Amino acid sequence: MLLISLYPWIKAFHVISMVAWMAATFYLPRLYVYHCQVPVGSTESERFKIMERRLLKQIMNPAMIATWIFGIILLATPGVVVWSTGWWYVKLVSVLALTGFHGAQSKWRKDFLNDRNKRPEKFYRIANEVPTVLMIIIVIMVIVKPF
Ligand code: HEM
Repeated sequence: MLLISLYPWIKAFHVISMVAWMAATFYLPRLYVYHCQVPVGSTESERFKIMERRLLKQIMNPAMIATWIFGIILLATPGVVVWSTGWWYVKLVSVLALTGFHGAQSKWRKDFLNDRNKRPEKFYRIANEVPTVLMIIIVIMVIVKPF
């Protein structure tokens, strides 16, 4: 079957897009941390707005969509996921949480864009750790498949 013969290629593109998604997801909250440190209306603040928009729209959004598309094709490939095993469900919950976090980051960008961010720098420092933890769980689930 076509999907089975394409399996290594689809998996390669799934991993490539996931790396781009994660790189952007790790960096965006860092930009928010730096953005908190500059005055509203300053040149630096306006420059951060451009950086945040480009990172989200040009890298993070397309990379997330590509990760989902290749992931769903992998799911549709016969024999790839054995539905009675538990790892897939832990991965699914983590991936949904990561997607929700992506949505939150997108909302925070709009707050900065409209000069109405009220969250402190510390909030973004802590938020920065969320995708790291989820990524570690996901990779252990797909590679080790512990249960
Ligand atoms: C967005 C929704 C996602 C879906 C539907 C999905 C689904 C899948 C499926 C079905 C596989 C094949 C598993 C296998 O061959 O045993 C896979 C592989 C993989 N996924 Fe995802 N995935 C998603 C997101 C992610 C994310 C966010 C990450 C990392 C943070 C990730 C990391 C990986 C890795 C590293 C592999 C390769 C595992 C191997 O070498 O066998 N996936 N994914």
